[in-house]
Amino acid sequence: MIFIFFKQVHRAKIKTSSSYPQQPTEFAMNISAAATSRYTAKAYDPSRKIPEDQIRELQAVLRFSPSSVNLQPWHFLIADSETAKARVATATRGAYHFNERKVLNASHVIVFASHTDVTTAHLDRLLAQEERDGRFQAEGAKDGQRQGRQTFVNLHRTELRDLQPWIDRQVYLALGTLLLSAGAMGIDATPIEGFDLAILDAELGLRERGLRSLALCALGYRAESDFNARLPKSRLPAEAVFTRL
Ligand SMILES: Cc1cc2nc3c(=O)[nH]c(=O)nc-3n(C[C@H](O)[C@H](O)[C@H](O)COP(=O)(O)O)c2cc1C
Repeated sequence: MIFIFFKQVHRAKIKTSSSYPQQPTEFAMNISAAATSRYTAKAYDPSRKIPEDQIRELQAVLRFSPSSVNLQPWHFLIADSETAKARVATATRGAYHFNERKVLNASHVIVFASHTDVTTAHLDRLLAQEERDGRFQAEGAKDGQRQGRQTFVNLHRTELRDLQPWIDRQVYLALGTLLLSAGAMGIDATPIEGFDLAILDAELGLRERGLRSLALCALGYRAESDFNARLPKSRLPAEAVFTRL
C-alpha cells in the first residue's frame, strides 16, 4: 500500500514538477509510517531475492539523490551473486564478524563509495550532463553553474580543508534516502559501517578507480530469527531533538 502510493507520487514528480506534491498530507502520513516501521534487519532469509524491477527503483532513488552543487561524488557497487557478496564479506571478518552473515544472507548488498577527489574531468562531465538535460536555458546559466560549483569545491579544498568529509556527507545522504525508500517498499535493510574499509577497497580495486568505500547497505527480507524485528524502536523524545524558533 505504502509502496503503491510512493510509486504514484514518484511518477507524478517525473511527469511535471509543478504538480508535486499532489496530496502532501497523505504523502507525509505515508512517509512517516515508512520512517517508523523501517528498522535495521539483523538476520536475513537467504532464500528470498528482491525482484529486479524493485532493484531498478532503488537504483533510481540512489541516482536521483540530492548532493551539494549536484556534485554526485559517488559510485554504488551492487553485489547480488553469492560470489560478489563473498567478496564484500571479506571485509567483515575478524572484528566485524557480527556483520558477516548479514552481508552473505541478504539478497543484495550495496557498497557506497566516495570519490577521493573532485577532478576536472568529473566537473566537466557534470556540466555536460546538465547541458544535455536542458538545465541551461538562460544566457550565462552554464558559466554560472560552472563557477558556482567551482567556488564550493575550492572552499572545501583550500579554505575549509574538508574536501573528503564534504564528499562523504553527500554520499551519506544517498544512504539515508535508500533506507527510507526500502522501508516504504517493504524491503528490509541494514546500514553497515562495521567493516574494514581498507580490505574492501583492496578487494574491489576502489582506490585505483579514485574511489573509497564508506558504508554498505544490505537489502532483503528478514529471517524469522531476527530478534530486532520484535524489539520496539527507540528514539529520544521530540522535545529533545526539536527547537521551534
Ligand atoms: C551509518 C550507520 C552505520 C551503521 N552500522 C551498523 C552496523 O555495522 N551493523 C549493524 O547491525 N547496524 C548498523 N547500523 C544500524 C544502527 O544501529 C541503527 O540504525 C540504529 O540503532 C537505529 O535503529 P533502526 O535503524 O532500527 O531504527 C548503522 C546505522 C547507520 C545509520
